[in-house]
Amino acid sequence: MPLPIFRTKPINANDPACDTGLKKCLTAFDLTLLGIGAIIGTGIFVLTGIAAANQAGPAVVLSFVISGVACAFAALAYAELAAAVGGCGSAYGYSYVAFGEIVAWVIGWILLLEYSVSVAAVANGWSGYFNNALSAMGMGLPDMLTKAPELGGIINLPAAAIILILMGLLIVGIKQSAQLNTAMVFVKVLAIAIFVGIAAFNVDPVNWQPFMPYGWFNTLPDGKTTGVLAGASLVFFAYVGFDAVSTAVEEAKDPQRDVPVGIIASLAFCTVIYIIVSGLLTGIVPYTELGVSSPVSHALQLLGYNWASALVATGVIAGLTTVMLVLYYGLTRIILAMSRDGLMSPFLSRVDPERRTPVRVIVITGIIMSLAAGLFPLGALAELVNIGTLAAFVLVCLGVIVMRIRHPNLPRPFKNPFGHLFPILGMISCAGLMAFLPAQTWLRFLVWLSIGLIVYFTYSIRHSKLAAQGNGNAD
Ligand code: ALA
Repeated sequence: MPLPIFRTKPINANDPACDTGLKKCLTAFDLTLLGIGAIIGTGIFVLTGIAAANQAGPAVVLSFVISGVACAFAALAYAELAAAVGGCGSAYGYSYVAFGEIVAWVIGWILLLEYSVSVAAVANGWSGYFNNALSAMGMGLPDMLTKAPELGGIINLPAAAIILILMGLLIVGIKQSAQLNTAMVFVKVLAIAIFVGIAAFNVDPVNWQPFMPYGWFNTLPDGKTTGVLAGASLVFFAYVGFDAVSTAVEEAKDPQRDVPVGIIASLAFCTVIYIIVSGLLTGIVPYTELGVSSPVSHALQLLGYNWASALVATGVIAGLTTVMLVLYYGLTRIILAMSRDGLMSPFLSRVDPERRTPVRVIVITGIIMSLAAGLFPLGALAELVNIGTLAAFVLVCLGVIVMRIRHPNLPRPFKNPFGHLFPILGMISCAGLMAFLPAQTWLRFLVWLSIGLIVYFTYSIRHSKLAAQGNGNAD
């Protein structure tokens, strides 16, 4: 009999927590677009500038390559588990099967951090572009209403407000249809295409010198980190979201084939885009000019393309809105799953009978995220997301190996080649990126984990549905 904390769910359980009631209608193409919809956002449109100006210089392009490689290993691990384990996608579901309850709880708790803080961070990016657009019309808000206290303001009002607006939309039951997402992805990609089209003819190679002004890695006296590797662990944020494809398993037509394709194709597409955009951005203006809240449209303005800058900014504002919606929606799905498994209070899993939306979860998370978005600066938020997501990726890679050892005969429609090599490289590279994050981010993350463990041992362990059914799987 295993310890209660290691009880596992059976593979492919007919799990009520996964019952979305949605049609199985998404193809590999739709899933790829869903991934691109959730991936391309603040990371490329804002953090590229911050990382170039403060951490990596023009070598930010290398930062993108490095974190892209780490994500590729993690994506392949996700793909193997999504195809073999199925059920409620997401790392939480896989680890409930592979490792047992406590690891599932820890991953779920980390995913809550990833998704909620991502929404707050993307809201910050949204606010930067929105306020820029208002300024262009002569209606810009004062600094004290667009900056977090740490940056000298009072509150980032647009960032807080957009989350409350999205909260309202989700409550009335806005349906994230594949068609709407597809349209928004095209708007985003169009904005990028306009930028690339103009930037490609305005590169001045002088801007790429010095290429690596901050070297590979340094820790400054104030604890901040610089260098290409520190940049990689910051711009990693740009890739966050491909795992959201794995939460759409229940809506996929042929999940065992299409989900792996969706995860890998969306990540590959975004990696190529990121390398092109970051290379061009640092080629058209000096990297020292890029540490602003809307660097892509700012760079176009510096080149004198005001019309293109406005067009790109509009595309970015629309694109960032989808990222927030998809991640906010994903957050509520994960909380619902954990609550229906008994690991969180059933108070949270109540679905409003009239609107058929989980109003309580939407409101509670909306208010918390809105406050976080208003009061904390983007850099700190993004680093917190990254450390959590990287930790989840390490465990997902480990999960591939554990599942192979514990269930060697499980059919695996998608299997990583070369034995355990890729999952091991995934663990090393993701753990490596974690190591380059500042000590303060580690501290915040450890505080978050400790709170999670306290909640687990004081509440979840006794209320788990598996506890009521005996001890779950004994293997
Ligand atoms: N990858 C997403 C973004 O960059 C979270 O906004």
